[in-house]
Amino acid sequence: MILLDGKIISEQVKAEIALEVENIKRQGGKVPHLVAILVGHDGGSETYVANKERSCIQVGFRSTVFRFEDTITESKLLYEINLLNNNPDVDGFIVQMPLPKHISEQKVIEAIDPKKDVDGFHPLNVGRMTIGMPAYISATPDGIVELLRRYKIETSGKHCVVLGRSNIVGRPISNLLSLKGYPGDCTVTVCHSRTKNIPEITRTADILIVALGQAEFVTANMVKEGAVVIDVGINRIKSETTKSGWKLLGDVKFDEVAPKCSYITPVPGGVGLLTIVSLLKNTLKAAKKEIYG
Ligand code: GUN
Repeated sequence: MILLDGKIISEQVKAEIALEVENIKRQGGKVPHLVAILVGHDGGSETYVANKERSCIQVGFRSTVFRFEDTITESKLLYEINLLNNNPDVDGFIVQMPLPKHISEQKVIEAIDPKKDVDGFHPLNVGRMTIGMPAYISATPDGIVELLRRYKIETSGKHCVVLGRSNIVGRPISNLLSLKGYPGDCTVTVCHSRTKNIPEITRTADILIVALGQAEFVTANMVKEGAVVIDVGINRIKSETTKSGWKLLGDVKFDEVAPKCSYITPVPGGVGLLTIVSLLKNTLKAAKKEIYG
């Protein structure tokens, strides 16, 4: 069993990006600039944005955070987004989710210029990705693809089973892995809450991707010998054995599933660490105008 190590791969990709930024600077080019809009004071969002800022600085990007109180109106937020769309100093930006209830997240996503949508949430980017056109791919599916690529895992002709059909993981990753080329050319089955006989289906998976948000849902009897298992779940569970009083569990019962696998991601330390890296990759692409010219 080989561990798909998110820490090693994320450090590797960050070092590659940092090198490219150094080259851009040496040639007098524009340093990539990522902006994050943070509305309100949600603890999780604060942490995410702080991590993004730290990673930007690590690779030599410019990073700016625009903060607004959670009383901001939807129209004022849309106005601010329009300013960023038209600001040539900003290569890419994200609006950290979740947003307060009085603001439509979908409206906000659709207001972002697809050329600067480094989260890859805009329907144009989602659509372009689905038909194999150049697009900003959202962080988690891109992180999965990066892991498969870096560990040179064979995907052609493999049966890939995806547990979960969310817009941010299950749906995009099932699309990406069924596209022509590498990593792709998989035969993909998507399972969800209405799927019958899930264990029967998962036992036929060469590659099993789990994004359900249910702690330790996948057990050893659901996994084929030699399978590649990618666990996207991050479940915060109360624990009496840790100092903090909680621990992180994946959607896969790691201890009993790992011995059966050819490759498996740990939680934490797997796909999660690659999500910020994907945002950095997209920001670099935005600065280089790689996707839309
Ligand atoms: N909230 C949690 N994850 C994300 C993300 O990847 N992008 C944005 N914009 N908000 C998030």
